[in-house]
Amino acid sequence: MNIEIYYFSGTGNSLAVAREISEKTNGKLIPIPTVMNHDHITTNADVIGIIFPVYYTGIINIPLIVQRFVMKLENINKPYIFAVCTYGGGFGTTLKLLDKMINSRGGRLSSGFGVHMPQNAFTKPFENKEKLYQDWKKEKLATICECVLAKQEYKFDTDSILIKPVVNILERIMKTAIFKPIFLKSMSNTAGFKKNPNLPAEEIIHLMDNSYHTDENCKNCTTCAKICPVHNIKLVEGKPVWQHHCET
Ligand SMILES: Cc1cc2nc3c(=O)[nH]c(=O)nc-3n(C[C@H](O)[C@H](O)[C@H](O)COP(=O)(O)O)c2cc1C
Repeated sequence: MNIEIYYFSGTGNSLAVAREISEKTNGKLIPIPTVMNHDHITTNADVIGIIFPVYYTGIINIPLIVQRFVMKLENINKPYIFAVCTYGGGFGTTLKLLDKMINSRGGRLSSGFGVHMPQNAFTKPFENKEKLYQDWKKEKLATICECVLAKQEYKFDTDSILIKPVVNILERIMKTAIFKPIFLKSMSNTAGFKKNPNLPAEEIIHLMDNSYHTDENCKNCTTCAKICPVHNIKLVEGKPVWQHHCET
């Protein structure tokens, strides 16, 4: 069986998950940024996997690079498609939204999983890091691989009963006509565009790196430039300079 596993990962959680699944299923691991220079993405795979981090509980969107990737997929009505989103707290409507995007390309998501991983969106280090990695391997990895290898239908994972009501309320608020512009305006402020809050989300996201900086603790190790998945960091005199095609 020809299995292709496409992944996007900002800080390594989704990469860790994608790697383990590819090892257990003998699937080919393909970083999404490496195929984005094609206008259309066609594949002969029997199984396509899409693995990525949750951004904004999927209420606003999935990571834009993943959305652009899905919109380039061609002839996807035959392969079995599965998705795994890694999340730090709650994934809300992420899988439903991805399914809608895949539907618009003529395919469908046959199974969708959420994997709880360390939260990377806050500056405070996540204390349960090791436990979360162990739990994922013990509790989820085998289920996902068995399901994928058998091309089984699987009702999408949903948030825990504690998180669900919070996400539902957030979803309702965010769907209001007033909230989305407020949210985009605050993002655009972060991106340094106080004077022009009306840029489309796609452009604002790319410019979010306007708020990124280093300080005297930067040791010029150059790791940031080496690992940025979309090559958005150049080194100038050993220090990172962001290039404004950020994916956050
Ligand atoms: C811009 C941004 C938005 C995020 N939004 C959410 C969110 O809404 N819900 C959540 O549970 N985690 C959220 N996270 C956390 C990541 O989804 C989570 O840590 C993920 O495992 C990171 O995967 P990666 O290391 O492959 O990038 C967000 C992270 C970023 C950078």
